[in-house]
Amino acid sequence: IPVDPFDLVIFGGTGDLARRKILPGLFRRFCAGQMPKDARVIGAARGDMSSAEYREFVAEAVAEFGGEGACEDGTLDGFLERMEFVTIDARGDTGWTDLVTLMRDDVVRAFYFSVGPSLFGDLAERLTKHGLTDADSRIVVEKPFGRDLDTAQALNRDLAKHFDERQIYRIDHYLGKETVQNLMAVRFGNMLFEPLWNSQYVDHIQITVAETVGVGGRGEYYDKSGAMRDMVQNHLMQLLCLIAMEPPSKFDPDAVRDEKLKVIRALDAVVPHHIVRGQYEAEGGDPSYREAVGDARSRTESYIAMKVGISNWRWAGTPFYLRTGKRLKARSSEIVVVFKELNHSIFGEAGEHRNELSIRLQPNEGITLGVTIKEPGPGGMRLMNVPLDMSFAEALGPDGADQTDAYERLIMDVIRGNQTLFMRGDEVEAAWAWTDPIIHGWEARGDVPKTYDAGSEGPVDAVQLLARDTRVWRKVTP
Ligand code: BG6
Repeated sequence: IPVDPFDLVIFGGTGDLARRKILPGLFRRFCAGQMPKDARVIGAARGDMSSAEYREFVAEAVAEFGGEGACEDGTLDGFLERMEFVTIDARGDTGWTDLVTLMRDDVVRAFYFSVGPSLFGDLAERLTKHGLTDADSRIVVEKPFGRDLDTAQALNRDLAKHFDERQIYRIDHYLGKETVQNLMAVRFGNMLFEPLWNSQYVDHIQITVAETVGVGGRGEYYDKSGAMRDMVQNHLMQLLCLIAMEPPSKFDPDAVRDEKLKVIRALDAVVPHHIVRGQYEAEGGDPSYREAVGDARSRTESYIAMKVGISNWRWAGTPFYLRTGKRLKARSSEIVVVFKELNHSIFGEAGEHRNELSIRLQPNEGITLGVTIKEPGPGGMRLMNVPLDMSFAEALGPDGADQTDAYERLIMDVIRGNQTLFMRGDEVEAAWAWTDPIIHGWEARGDVPKTYDAGSEGPVDAVQLLARDTRVWRKVTP
């Protein structure tokens, strides 16, 4: 079903995110018939470019980053006709009247700030000054949403001068992933799990987001951020919230976000010895972290593992172990809920057979439930663990597994006016309020990350973090 007609302005329309994600994503929605034929996309950037040149830029982006093959011949031309370009100066007056002329009154107006956060305030101000927004207009902003609580509050204040919270869409692209949304479907769409989803039955939970890529060409940004700011404060935090939150009364933006906020506010402060930071070493011809960022003394972490507690009735006593890092053994994001041992085994085999629910987010999305059965054969009552395995690709068939990219789904949600999968301002601030003291602690102590081999599962100290609690990390497998 097509969404309502819209004009979408992409500030930073020639940038990397636009090229890799936003424009190819819009094209795929166009192919799928979801982007209405009279929708318009207006690239805006500082450089000089004609609309004809922008269409070439868009065609190249689509060819390089996907989607073209999935469409009928000739569709690309129809899509390119929807593209316009204006040269604009976010901090000056150039281009704004051109934009005013281009935009239509009777359609949804959305403005994607695909630029650094230092320009958010300027853009918001100029949009209102030039009368480009109405009560129904929306803005979309990208991470990093600040680098600490103060900067996040300042950004929220700058945006709030010109927009209501219901007009602000803060993207965390993890929330747009099909399987991340499936976390909610699994938890709240089945009778089976929710009664056991608490500290009485759950021993601990592991959340892993492992990447094989290094910092690549993003060294300058990354070295000022590190894994804590780049991944934990947002993506892992969102996963933690979806796993730990109370059932919202309905699937509606504020009901869901209220529950996530309560989780963040209930997080315990993390003590230093519950955190392991790491930096990857060189491997083969690939540079070490420090070489990649060009700072031989960098103390930024490219890996982090931590033990996190949640002080509420549901979770007190059940630790959450989080880890994420670059240049690890495999690309693999997974959540594992490890249930407690049986309180009494009639078979006399204590402690060896616990249930585990693994929710695999990427790649090879699926769910596995480890169950205990009798070992086949006449050897008596011996028990073994077997996986009840459901790969979504197998269960849903080759066409059933949804290939929609997170960005295209989220952009369509912006046009539909649905904020459920976007972060609310208070959520982002609460997440920074929790991360700030941890980061300040490292800075004050001059904490130096441990090194780890590229292609490994991370620093050995991370193994110790669980071993101290007589637990083990699940293997990072592709
Ligand atoms: C981004 C981080 O937000 O997420 C990157 O800035 C990271 O450092 C990326 O690589 C991971 O996203 P995905 O979708 O590839 O898991």
